[in-house]
Amino acid sequence: MPEEAASGNTPDLESLHHETQTFPPSKEFAAQANATADMYDQAAADPVEFWAAQARDLVTWKTPFTETLDWSGAPVARWFADGTLNAAYNAVDRHVAEGRGDRVAIHFEGEPGDTRTLTYADLQRETSRAANVLASLGVESGDRVVIYLPMIVEAVVAMLACARVGAPHSVVFGGFSADALRSRIADAEAKVVITADGGYRRGSASALKPAVDEAVAAREGAEATSVEHVLVVQRTGQDVAWTEGRDIWWHEALEAADVLHTPVWVEAEHPLFILYTSGTTGKPKGILHTTGGYLTQTAFTHKFVFDLKPETDVYWCTADVGWVTGHSYVVYGPLLNGATQVIYEGTPDSPDKGRWWEIVEKYKVTILYTAPTAIRTCMKWGEDIPNRFDLTSLRLLGSVGEPINPEAWLWYRRVIGADRTPIVDTWWQTETGAIMISPLPGVTVAKPGSAQTPLPGIMADVVDDDARSVANGGGGYLVLSQPWPAMLRGIWGDLERFKDTYWSRFRGIYFAGDGAKKDADGDIWFLGRVDDVMNVSGHRLSTTEIESALVSHPMVAEAAVVGAADETTGQAVVAFVILRSEFADGAVHEDVQELLRNHVAKQIGPIAKPRTILVVAELPKTRSGKIMRRLLRDVAEHRAVGDATTLADASVMDLIATGLTRPT
Ligand code: WT7
Repeated sequence: MPEEAASGNTPDLESLHHETQTFPPSKEFAAQANATADMYDQAAADPVEFWAAQARDLVTWKTPFTETLDWSGAPVARWFADGTLNAAYNAVDRHVAEGRGDRVAIHFEGEPGDTRTLTYADLQRETSRAANVLASLGVESGDRVVIYLPMIVEAVVAMLACARVGAPHSVVFGGFSADALRSRIADAEAKVVITADGGYRRGSASALKPAVDEAVAAREGAEATSVEHVLVVQRTGQDVAWTEGRDIWWHEALEAADVLHTPVWVEAEHPLFILYTSGTTGKPKGILHTTGGYLTQTAFTHKFVFDLKPETDVYWCTADVGWVTGHSYVVYGPLLNGATQVIYEGTPDSPDKGRWWEIVEKYKVTILYTAPTAIRTCMKWGEDIPNRFDLTSLRLLGSVGEPINPEAWLWYRRVIGADRTPIVDTWWQTETGAIMISPLPGVTVAKPGSAQTPLPGIMADVVDDDARSVANGGGGYLVLSQPWPAMLRGIWGDLERFKDTYWSRFRGIYFAGDGAKKDADGDIWFLGRVDDVMNVSGHRLSTTEIESALVSHPMVAEAAVVGAADETTGQAVVAFVILRSEFADGAVHEDVQELLRNHVAKQIGPIAKPRTILVVAELPKTRSGKIMRRLLRDVAEHRAVGDATTLADASVMDLIATGLTRPT
């Protein structure tokens, strides 16, 4: 990439700690595993037919498809295009119709300790009611609905209700600000927003509705959004402002609604959801996913990567539905497969640091899927905390969101998995919709720190700058060379940006934005992003987006943001800012850091708050004016500053170094 030299995120092969221990599957696990080694051969023989077989086996179609893949409109794929189906029917109704209505779908655990259990039959009644409410509000197939909810049962019900009526949902993570919510609502042109009065977080009720009120209303410089109604779930009982005619209590509307609803059958390529994610520019991208292919691959991966046995397993994915992991592995994958799962509202340390393990013990969780950042946090808290609980029900552990360092992998396996459970390190992205690269439990000899192998039916490779496949031992860029069923179908409203972002770096193949290395066996090790995307606690943040937020503050003249290595969160946001001259001369505002951190929280959300803000007099730039983030990363990570010879003004780094008197 031409910007590469300047942004400086070249995959760093040397920094990779190579763990040489391997973990073959136990005989007992292998004997009962869903996955078999010959799946790779079957898929390799005819990948398209392999996916067709999965689609017939794992998904119920209203009208069967006769055509599997149409790639003639590349890079927009069409999978199973002449088939019709409904996602909510597949996730819920068919289980009831086939006699599984009494199976528990969701064990809900609220942060304050309230619980709720829903069977598949309960879920069918709730989603049908909610679908009838949406229909009564004029939501029709194709209309967009934004969901801004805490991690409560209603979030799942709301998503499925949208799917029932054919209305693509766009879930916005509850940690995003009113401004971020507003831009997503506007971009999706949503008709309805589903929210709550608030949710419980770290022991107290945290409001959500005020952000929605602020996001949808007209204000200076912005018209009112397209939103006609706001459905409000009562979760905390806190006071809310109310706009008559627009706002509707969820519980009142559902109570009055019919429990029967016929799902709207849609074509396989009908949009199922839009999910906004950070890119390399300031504006978040609305990643578009459609129905048939997405459901096929989420069900397939959930069944084989997690070895799901729906009659006996209790599955728990700790992700929030605001992220793609929550879409694919809390909502669609598990429910399609008829799983029993745990949903937990709050944080791992509420009311104390044993909460997660207490939940595992209480519900006898067998499969746990979480992020390296959470594992590292638990490591820091100490193993005596999980050791206090009975975790013997666990039989498989998963990891997602960022590379898992071997040390965390080994701790996860030893302390949480009793040195017995397989671990699956699953690589994928919002864009890929479902897991792409992962060991298969019961088949793969696991290597701590490596995601290892593309799943059957997935064609991934590591290539050099000229798109040539690197030899084993080499490093480069991760690409996906053939279309896959759950792939994004575009960026909402911006086909050009879709082509530019993913398909222009290497002609005709998908560029993921990740650096990777192949080891001597050809197994894949991920090395982090090679673009201006940061990964903080497994959440994707854009350097440019945070820079834009910073310069929108009147005190800031210029800003540069980098992701600096952080022991717990993987990366942390570090911002370098130049203040406007009227603020910069001599007396730096005492709480400028706090002021700007809060400004970013207001603009984007608390998750984007820089860990550190450094006020500097200059930023290192190339002669063409491009900020050399590589050098700033050296500063942020307290390293000797690397090669600065391409700087327009070589003295800048000294200036920055001497000016760094007050790191926060
Ligand atoms: C980026 C995608 C996939 C759901 C959560 C994040 C990084 C994700 C791994 C992994 C190494 C990983 C990549 C990827 N990533 N999983 N197992 N090993 N890196 O979804 O927000 O779309 O971010 O997360 O850099 O590109 P996302």
